[in-house]
Amino acid sequence: MCGITGYVGKRQSLPIVMDQLKRLEYRGYDSSGVALLENGSVHVLKSVGKIRALQDMVERFETQSTTGIGHTRWATHGAPSDANAHPHMDCTGRFAVVHNGIIENYLELREELQMLGHQFKSETDTEVLSHLVEELYEGDLVQTVEETIKKVHGSYAMAVVSNQAKNRIVVARNQSPLVIGLGDGEMFLASDIPAVMPYTRRVLLLEDGDVAIMERDHVEVRHGGKAVERPPFEVTWDEGSAEKAGYEHFMLKEIHEQPQVIRNTLRGRIDDEGTVHIRELEPLEEAIRGAKRVVIAACGTAYHAGCVGKLFMERMLRVPVEIDLASEFRYREPIVDEETLGIVVSQSGETADTLAALREMKGRGAKVVAVVNVVGSSIAREADVPVYTWAGPEICVASTKAYTTQLAVMYLLGLHFANVRGVALEETARLTKELETIPDCVATLMERDDEVERIAATLTEKEDFFFLGRGMDFAVSLEGALKLKEITYLHAEAYAAGEMKHGPLALISPDVPVICLVTSERLREKMISNIKEMKARGGCCLGFLLEGDLQTEQVVDSTFRLPVVDELLMPILSVVPLQMLAYFLARDLGREIDQPRNLAKSVTVE
Ligand code: M6R
Repeated sequence: MCGITGYVGKRQSLPIVMDQLKRLEYRGYDSSGVALLENGSVHVLKSVGKIRALQDMVERFETQSTTGIGHTRWATHGAPSDANAHPHMDCTGRFAVVHNGIIENYLELREELQMLGHQFKSETDTEVLSHLVEELYEGDLVQTVEETIKKVHGSYAMAVVSNQAKNRIVVARNQSPLVIGLGDGEMFLASDIPAVMPYTRRVLLLEDGDVAIMERDHVEVRHGGKAVERPPFEVTWDEGSAEKAGYEHFMLKEIHEQPQVIRNTLRGRIDDEGTVHIRELEPLEEAIRGAKRVVIAACGTAYHAGCVGKLFMERMLRVPVEIDLASEFRYREPIVDEETLGIVVSQSGETADTLAALREMKGRGAKVVAVVNVVGSSIAREADVPVYTWAGPEICVASTKAYTTQLAVMYLLGLHFANVRGVALEETARLTKELETIPDCVATLMERDDEVERIAATLTEKEDFFFLGRGMDFAVSLEGALKLKEITYLHAEAYAAGEMKHGPLALISPDVPVICLVTSERLREKMISNIKEMKARGGCCLGFLLEGDLQTEQVVDSTFRLPVVDELLMPILSVVPLQMLAYFLARDLGREIDQPRNLAKSVTVE
């Protein structure tokens, strides 16, 4: 996720483009840049770091330019650096391009363009766009952009300025958002509505495949080479809610982004034959084949994703897989050597304990894979191979989409390792097929938030909660309980259901709701016995069960029905209503959801 901005009009473009960039900083913040048209030239200013760094640079730059574009980056291809910051220029300095999305065939295009003599300055996928525009340009920028998008596969929102097209911005979109704000004698471009709202409330939303030409007094939208009508609409929301795309909190927005980001995580990692292949892992093939054991370390939610990863990989690979809290790992003299494959999991890539665990693993001779969201973060750089989760920036302190994309990578890793080691091939093929259905299954859960909202409304008086499950369901219970406690400030405890009778059963009373996860047919009978133990002590059991599980339905007090996939993949679905439950309860209790008390998004101290 990156942010794009633009302005064409009579005012100076730079202050407006910069102001818009600040409003989009939540979409990405590892580098930023602007391109300005002035006196027949294209001027580019860009800098690694937050927008503040670019601000210092532009304050020293004299300009009267009235046409400009801007970009704030969330790295995907290529680490954060000055060179990888947008805008990207062609070889002749005539065309500047900003882009949000992923050009999937960029390697192929890059090779073709290099053969034609184009010189690349960055590692980004975006730079192929500026060179393609240069290559295809025959005097008409609009036609050139139309030809360019025919050659690229993937997602893009792009904007081009050129000294060959004065007072014009040409833009295109496919699967990445782009809006045009319609002013009086001026036009504004942005990835999201909040960035145009201080200037105009009349907005035009581009559709996939659209190309638009923005000029001071006119916007023309084209589709398939022909002009089309895109009726503008009036924005009536306030600015704060627009930034959250109309959601009340970032957490809810991020919960709802899950179908799309899980799709992004899987994209390009399952080949046409339906086999998982993670290209980044090719250099580790020998280590993967020869590993006698796998060791995972992480903190918090990422640790919970590791718990699911452990169970999954053990089932697929039949080698011991250990999971450790990163804060404990290095203090127990871990048994790690050259025959160990290490995995660390981290959204931020900066968690101090996880970084220390990674160094400990490497120091003992293991090869280490990092499952990480932030490109170019310390953990991504220090691991032997980073496998990115592609969740985009997560703003809410409580992880939601980071967790489910970590799970998606855990599954991909397990399936990839099994393929490399030539084990469980039939099961691998079947699970890969099912994994591809997950984004759609998650999408169906999004439409059922009202059911969870109703359950939450019955719980506002409660102060203690238990989350119970067995196997994978226990791993998800840990995450469900963490979500609840961090944003509601209520006490919640996750327990392996079979352990309740060894002590915690003493805490069960009608006042303590018990969230029961039952998503394994294999373990159902056992769970039913455990639920009955709770009921016999007056416990109120809320079941999160498989669709069609009438047996468990009879013993619980209320039921949320989950779509059915293989039990190994159920965690990525069953966690979603638990995230929503925590959210609705925290909202009903009036908590500070996106920034809960005492917590920080990234914990860089031990
Ligand atoms: O950035 P990381 O994934 O390394 O962060 C680890 C934990 O601090 C994090 O998962 C934390 O538990 C979550 N924000 C909880 O929702």
